[in-house]
Amino acid sequence: MERVIIFDTTLRDGEQSPGASMNLAEKLEVARALAELGVDVIEAGFPIASPGDFEAVRAIAQRVEGPTIAGLARCNAEDIDRAWEALRDAARRRIHVFLATSAIHREHKLKMAKEEIVRRAVESVKRARGYCDDVEFSPEDAARTEPDFLAEVVEKVIDAGATTVNIPDTVGYAVPEQFGALIRHLKRHVRGIDRAVISVHCHNDLGLAVANSLAALKEGARQVECTINGIGERAGNCSLEEVVMAVKTRHDFFHLQTGIKAPRLYPTSRLVSSVTGLQVQRNKAIVGQNAFAHEAGIHQHGMIMHHSTYEIMRPDDVGFTHTQLVLGKHSGRHALRARIAEMGYHLNDAQLQNVFEDFKKLADKKKEVYDADLEALIEGRVQDAPALWEIVAFHTSAGTGTLPTAAVCLRRADGTTFQEAACGDGPIDAVFKSIERITGIAVRLRDYHVRSVTVGKDAQGEVGVDVEHRGRLVRGRAASTDIVEASARAFLHAINRIAVAESEMVEAAGAKRA
Ligand code: KIV
Ligand code: ZN
Repeated sequence: MERVIIFDTTLRDGEQSPGASMNLAEKLEVARALAELGVDVIEAGFPIASPGDFEAVRAIAQRVEGPTIAGLARCNAEDIDRAWEALRDAARRRIHVFLATSAIHREHKLKMAKEEIVRRAVESVKRARGYCDDVEFSPEDAARTEPDFLAEVVEKVIDAGATTVNIPDTVGYAVPEQFGALIRHLKRHVRGIDRAVISVHCHNDLGLAVANSLAALKEGARQVECTINGIGERAGNCSLEEVVMAVKTRHDFFHLQTGIKAPRLYPTSRLVSSVTGLQVQRNKAIVGQNAFAHEAGIHQHGMIMHHSTYEIMRPDDVGFTHTQLVLGKHSGRHALRARIAEMGYHLNDAQLQNVFEDFKKLADKKKEVYDADLEALIEGRVQDAPALWEIVAFHTSAGTGTLPTAAVCLRRADGTTFQEAACGDGPIDAVFKSIERITGIAVRLRDYHVRSVTVGKDAQGEVGVDVEHRGRLVRGRAASTDIVEASARAFLHAINRIAVAESEMVEAAGAKRA
């Protein structure tokens, strides 16, 4: 069976989703998870875009082993040189250069004639090849480019040394039959096409990114660019888990394989959702909470007779373990460590200790602790900013006809405790105001959501908040069986992130002055 190269762009195109920005530690963690998942290429970022992007690509290139690390560059010398600087320490590295080719982009954005586009593309591929042997070229908006001009560009960049030619449907305009036909056209009309891998990069504006990518594979494309949970610019990119499981589940049709370790799909999806704050819709294929839930009586009856009646994949195949009862209050640290490892998380000793303490508290309140409960605890702890502030105690009062109030006591990292009280629109608002008063950090609440982690009246509520501080969106998340407490901790999580970032900035400014 032929192999499909999985090129993951969660850290580049995925990070372009509104509100999905990740810090360096989070990017490294996602990159390591992607390596473990078995992706072939990680597009780690766009090094020229910002110093933060550059540092993230460089750190991933230096520290993440296994996949090829790619960095994006426009067709100019500065971008390409900067991409190379960021990538040079990787064992396997790829420079990915792009330039739009469609008439719309040529006329309205680039103001360049066809000849100029070809010249710039060829020059840039040659410059990138001067640095490394693995160079990808993307004619941006390829799906809306005249097929013959696209074939000309592709032929010339292959002659110039491109080893992968990526055909993006940048605006998600294509439909499967047409997109497959475009790949067929290139295979027929580009001299030397066999010297490069044909890749596709589909956006999901019409909900067709996966379908278009699969149609291209059927016509001979052998690399798919995709993201975990399908996140990305606007409506997102082709979803990695969906395209991979389509190829795997329907190998009778595609006769292709990937190197993805499918049981790592669900944990990776959870991780990306947790660090980006982008929740996965319940009915999302492969990794949504309902993807393997059977509600209708007829279906449940069929499932009892044989799972193949209503299931084309097993939940375990993609790493779903959410219905499993795991541990109780008498379970020890070893059992917890083993279960966490089975679920696919890797915690260091300090993180494990924190999760163990949270687990014990939870097990006291809740008889049955499920995998989903553990996930919520782990996710709360793994991305934790060092806690400059922690909750000592709080009290709220609310009800019809009374003024909602809260009194909060916080401890600062130096051990001093502070108390404040406030009124609010409700008890949660009053808690948030009290926390703002104590910490002196005022924010604007942009989003607040709560979801039940498992079922039952003792289920944990997981709260996510997005707060805006000095134009920057910061996320916080926490879970508890008490949603007011979960809200307070989620809000404080975000405040701690802001406080840590501010103290780092003050330190950096001090170091500069020194
Ligand atoms: O959508 C797009 O065209 C891109 C390119 C940079 C590959 O993201
Ligand atoms: Zn894109």
